[in-house]
Amino acid sequence: MAGAPADGPPGSAPVPRDRLHRLIAGERERYTAGHPASLALFGQARHLIGRVPMTWMSKWSGGFPLYLDTAAGATVTDVDGHRYADFALGDTGAMAGHSPPAVQAAISRRAVQRGGITTMLPTEDAEWVAAELARRFGLPLWSFSLSATDANRWAIRLARLVTGRSKILVFSYCYHGSVDETFAVLDEAGAIRSRPGNVGPAVDPVTTTRVAQFNDLASVQAELAHGDVAVIVTEPALTNIGIVLPEPGFLDGLRRLASQHGALLLIDETHTLSAGPGGMTATERLQPDIVVVGKSIGGGIACGAYGITEQLGARIEEHTRSGVADIVDVGGVGGTLAGNALSTAAMRATLSEVLTEQAFGTMIELAARYTAGVQATIDRYRLPWSISRLGARAEYRFASPAPRTGNQSAAAADPDLDEYLHLYLVNRGVLLTPFHNMALMCPATEITDVDLHTGLFAAAAAELFGG
Ligand SMILES: Cc1ncc(COP(=O)(O)O)c(C=O)c1O
Repeated sequence: MAGAPADGPPGSAPVPRDRLHRLIAGERERYTAGHPASLALFGQARHLIGRVPMTWMSKWSGGFPLYLDTAAGATVTDVDGHRYADFALGDTGAMAGHSPPAVQAAISRRAVQRGGITTMLPTEDAEWVAAELARRFGLPLWSFSLSATDANRWAIRLARLVTGRSKILVFSYCYHGSVDETFAVLDEAGAIRSRPGNVGPAVDPVTTTRVAQFNDLASVQAELAHGDVAVIVTEPALTNIGIVLPEPGFLDGLRRLASQHGALLLIDETHTLSAGPGGMTATERLQPDIVVVGKSIGGGIACGAYGITEQLGARIEEHTRSGVADIVDVGGVGGTLAGNALSTAAMRATLSEVLTEQAFGTMIELAARYTAGVQATIDRYRLPWSISRLGARAEYRFASPAPRTGNQSAAAADPDLDEYLHLYLVNRGVLLTPFHNMALMCPATEITDVDLHTGLFAAAAAELFGG
């Protein structure tokens, strides 16, 4: 998976590895020299596991992360005084932009003026948010969490409850948060395996999980035929192994197969919300039994939610009424701070005033411009690369044509190219998400931000592939 594919289709440019390694070394030096304050703070962080507050923050290129000073809209400044056009946007957590004024006002109203950040008491904001999510995604009943991981986890439990089945079906190289059952992939022989690097699984995921290949309905059918799958859990496009878009008919086929085999369909829109206000569920007219969202809809405040159909709600109620399942105490669905007043106030402000239909229109136009800019450089140097776009999100991948399965996309990983491009950009004022090469637009992103990236991407390619 961490291989370095050098060659693409005939006539395309191979990656000159020696030059790439020299360029990376130069960019690393420039990064270290340019960020002494971040480096010093990193050096002092001796009580943090991996010297970072959350272990993924080690993922940034350059050997140490930038330390945040200020952030507003699509802009971040670090403690060394550099300003960045931010396309990472907290890996989607800040798709609404950093500290949007409407969210600031709502948080301040709730936390400062009225008080009551977390009380285990509902506020009217929760019903407003649920109704808005119902309008956007078409599912009538909603419940809240503080992360998309938990929303997935709790929804999977409910799916197992009502179907009486033990397994879930996921796609190879999916990511749905730290949900144990989802850490399974297909190996080269097509066998289900624990995902490489899986930390301390309670049981081998082979016992909990069936794995199919994205865009391959035959593989889905074969796994569902065992009759033990409670729920298919998928993003409508894979976004965590590059972007792998669904081919025509694939998502409808999933719905059909799930119904035929008595399994539920959970669509995780945590990232694919970038497609529009109701995610791909709305743009592709999907008919899931469960939708999960999280990250961005709180404008940066911790949140998550899952929505279900009336039919699924009724099936859950049968089990709770009979006393078989406990969803109001310690049955394993819910959490103390979930749905708290601050989180729901932030979601209401974000959905009503920030991530609006109009904002998505502008964000999607900018992502189209970004994509065209990258494509022009790919074409110019005949690179065996591709760029895929999903509404306001775009990502380049070192494969052409664009991968159609998670395994193909994993095979196209090139950590050297990732490091070079990330460092080249960060050293000149652009942040990409530390996970592969994702760029996301927020309502405050400007054309000048996009054009800055386009110019730098072309310049990075020129240094690597030019004369
Ligand atoms: C599709 C998807 N679902 C769920 C999650 C988990 O989100 P969180 O880390 O907020 O729990 C992620 C995180 O990247 C994700 O990409």
